[in-house]
Amino acid sequence: MFNVSRSIATSTWVNLLGEKLTFLRSFLRQPTQIGAIAPSSSDLVATMIESFNWMNINAVAEYGPGTGVFTQAIMQNMKPETRFFAIEQSAEMVKATLKRCPSVKIYQDSVTNVQRLCEIESIDRLDAIVSGLPWAAFPDVLQDRILNEIPKVLRPGGSFATFAYWQGLALPAGKRFSRRLRSHFSQVQRSKTVWKNMPPAFVYRCVL
Ligand SMILES: C[S@@+](CC[C@H](N)C(=O)[O-])C[C@H]1O[C@@H](n2cnc3c(N)ncnc32)[C@H](O)[C@@H]1O
Repeated sequence: MFNVSRSIATSTWVNLLGEKLTFLRSFLRQPTQIGAIAPSSSDLVATMIESFNWMNINAVAEYGPGTGVFTQAIMQNMKPETRFFAIEQSAEMVKATLKRCPSVKIYQDSVTNVQRLCEIESIDRLDAIVSGLPWAAFPDVLQDRILNEIPKVLRPGGSFATFAYWQGLALPAGKRFSRRLRSHFSQVQRSKTVWKNMPPAFVYRCVL
């Protein structure tokens, strides 16, 4: 007899494997843009989502959704009327996000253009930004360009969260990024380490 639940489990597993392969392939092609060999784990997604008070968020943007693991969780946690769009530079990752979240509004663009995209979306100020960007792979000048755009689109007191890999804390680039965050935001806190992530990671929770 045909076993429906086994067939659903198999197709979910095949989809997840396909996502992981897409991610790895993209990393091998563009390591400094992708910055990781696998999507964030469900534990890191949960830690990222806990960083925000979703009831107070009316407009949110996501930076670098990759295969859409944060995107899906954002859509499940935000209020139905919340405005949401994502910005992803890689065409292959845009496709992967749309496969996971067919109804998401996603722009294939660089987050350095966030101000223009907010204008297109008729969003005056965002309440929150969820970032999956690989900061440690970016040169200092790009980190600054992206961070300098944030006060132009995020309201004062708005929330920004981004993850970093634990081992980066010991490296000069990781330490520089931590200092840079502290110079751009009025509050910066670190979540607990998410050990069930490859590699272990934590979330920077920042308030403008
Ligand atoms: C480490 S992956 C994270 C994916 C996903 N958020 C996750 O946690 O699994 C980083 C993503 O950021 C995207 N990205 C890198 N630089 C970008 C930029 N300047 N603008 C928009 N997306 C960018 C990459 O293409 C990649 O999909």
